Amino acid sequence: MEKRPAYSSSYWLEEENQAGTFPPVQEDLETEIVIAGGGLTGITTGYLLAQKGHKVIILEARELFSGTTGYTTAKVTAQHGLIYDELISHIGLEGARKFYEASNQALNFISTYCSSQSEKYDFSFQGASVFATNDDEQRQIELEQKAYEKLDIPFEIASGLSFDATAKTVLTMKQQAQFHPIKYLKALLEEFIQLGGKVFEHSPAVSVEEGSQMKVVTATGRKITCQKLVVGSHFPFIDKKGAYFSRLQPQRSYLIAVEPQNEFEGGMYITAGNPVRSIRQAAGQDSFIMLIGGEGHVTGRESNTLSNYLALEAYADEAFGIKQYLNRWSAQDLITLDKVPYIGPINQSSPNIFVATGYRKWGMTNGTAAALLLSDLIEEKDNPYIDLFTPSRFKADPSVKQAFAANMEVAGELIKGKLEPADKTLDEMENDEGAIVKVNGQKTGVYKDPQGQFHAVDPTCTHMGCECNWNDGERTWDCPCHGSRFSYTGEVIEGPAFMSLESITIDQTE
Ligand code: FES
Repeated sequence: MEKRPAYSSSYWLEEENQAGTFPPVQEDLETEIVIAGGGLTGITTGYLLAQKGHKVIILEARELFSGTTGYTTAKVTAQHGLIYDELISHIGLEGARKFYEASNQALNFISTYCSSQSEKYDFSFQGASVFATNDDEQRQIELEQKAYEKLDIPFEIASGLSFDATAKTVLTMKQQAQFHPIKYLKALLEEFIQLGGKVFEHSPAVSVEEGSQMKVVTATGRKITCQKLVVGSHFPFIDKKGAYFSRLQPQRSYLIAVEPQNEFEGGMYITAGNPVRSIRQAAGQDSFIMLIGGEGHVTGRESNTLSNYLALEAYADEAFGIKQYLNRWSAQDLITLDKVPYIGPINQSSPNIFVATGYRKWGMTNGTAAALLLSDLIEEKDNPYIDLFTPSRFKADPSVKQAFAANMEVAGELIKGKLEPADKTLDEMENDEGAIVKVNGQKTGVYKDPQGQFHAVDPTCTHMGCECNWNDGERTWDCPCHGSRFSYTGEVIEGPAFMSLESITIDQTE
């Protein structure tokens, strides 16, 4: 096997670089609709609205696709792991049926767009399978199968897999799909721009002035006057008393791309329980490659994230054999209290500001379902999924509620971060290592790069003051409270924070 990749880089973004570089907002502007977030939700919503003749501006905080969209497994399916049995018990049969229908509608939208030029988008129909590796998961699959029957979801049941991994029962939805997310979005983007849509990169929206006219304000103070705003950028950058910070949990998960030694018969797979293993094939330059994902955890709660890549590598090697290790990367996703995304008006008294978030790692279908719903909401058309996705609901899956209570204790994290001792001294640091170090009596986040150069920041998160932890797989500072992430030099990689960590100078001659 060739060497492991030293740095994290998405296979999708490396293979198919983004459509073009768009300028930042440099003057005050006026439009009809502003969309904050240049990922799948933002671009699809923009495309749908521009097609209907609306004037739309997309604002992206960094580069297009640089959020979760560029880091997905790009499975397009209504399956979403094990979900329907749980949905029936938490939101009822009708709610679960609507969730399936909305996901199917999203799958149909993508497949209709891609299928006339399947090769251009590396699009293919595939079965989506969830499989049990032990007796407990077997029982869960049986419950899920019963849920499929109640919801009239077509399925197949099999025992065993066509590749080298343990499986007791395999529950498959046929005619699901996989594609290349960036190739697909570049096509939508091109049409959006031809229809008059505008895109600005490096232009994070940071606040909204409401009055007779709404103005979206960027980090550089530019104002865009508009009638409606869509916030499609993970944590909404404004909360508007929607309590999103206590209703969304950020999670990271990991992916590797390898050229396999063994044949693979196709299909998309995911384990029914932990550790999660998500598997699919993708078209590489010269040969097919395998994408293996999993190892999710709450953002900022694990430092040794390199071990997650090692676990995926071991699985890939056993199941497929690794001829060449091509890429490794990770993604951030948000999970809602009832596992159903929040899509709709940000609160009941702000009908012109919409959010779409909480896709629970199934962003291709949930993001497309969001775009289809948002475009109807903006045009004030009726839509069968308004109530299902409304962010104003406050239902909670009991298991998720418990996990949230344990994990989202911001006050606890604030105190814990301040009390914890420094990890080590500067002298003890190895090259290519990050740690909390006491510098001039102050706790400092330090990364010592491969050349021995120190990069130091104040690890206090600029969002609400929790202390960030080092992430060794990505070489970033990650906040355990709401998942903001910063580069080792302090720049924001992932919100809700929009201000950099304060940089600290270290006297290296000491
Ligand atoms: Fe909220 Fe860090 S305190 S993301």
